Amino acid sequence: MNKNTVIFNHPLISHKIALLRDVNTGTRQFRELVGEIAMLMAYEALKDIETVEKEITTPLETVTQKTVKENSVAIIPILRAGLGMVNGVQSLLPTAKVGHIGLYRDPKTLTPADYYCKLPENIKDMTAVLLDPMLATGGSASEAIGYLKKSGCKKIKLMSIIAAPQGIEKIETDHPDIQLYVACKDGKLNSEGYIVPGLGDAGDRLFGTK
Ligand code: PRP
Ligand code: URA
Repeated sequence: MNKNTVIFNHPLISHKIALLRDVNTGTRQFRELVGEIAMLMAYEALKDIETVEKEITTPLETVTQKTVKENSVAIIPILRAGLGMVNGVQSLLPTAKVGHIGLYRDPKTLTPADYYCKLPENIKDMTAVLLDPMLATGGSASEAIGYLKKSGCKKIKLMSIIAAPQGIEKIETDHPDIQLYVACKDGKLNSEGYIVPGLGDAGDRLFGTK
């Protein structure tokens, strides 16, 4: 495994993934869980973001304290399912700019097709936190990372809740320089490109479209 890949092994995240996988979990709870897992993952993934020292006056004296550098992090969900993770990351970084990359996976060829891209103006100077709950073949995330790199972005982190071994391998091969955070590595992909055991279609479960 690439040294830039982190697979979480945390009981709180594991518990929430168990609920997320459950076929009986409805849209509302599914959405809440995706947001909560994203927040827990972001706490770890953001531990090396840029800081600036600020002088703060407490009721007792003045102290110098590290604070998050303004405009240094961009949150980039891959549409649609990545949208479900935005709130969780925003709860830690409420003023972060949000860009969007629209991709869907062709159900026959399993290759990504792009339909939208809007990134913050100074993305090249920011840490991009790319969000997609599912890393299956890795085609969509690899394409999205390619966009970010073409836009000049040098520091990229990808957060995925469930990943297949193939998806992890593709990102590590195509983009060994980025940091990959996966909450749970599953066994395999089925013949339709779904992660098994997985959780089904994340976009449909988040938005109630099936
Ligand atoms: C899902 C998922 C990823 C992609 C993963 O999106 O959210 O973006 O598939 O598959 P890959 O790793 O094989 O590329 P989908 O294309 O179903 O679009 P949606 O989020 O709009 O439902
Ligand atoms: N996209 C999903 O939403 N689920 C999978 O298992 C694979 C791709």
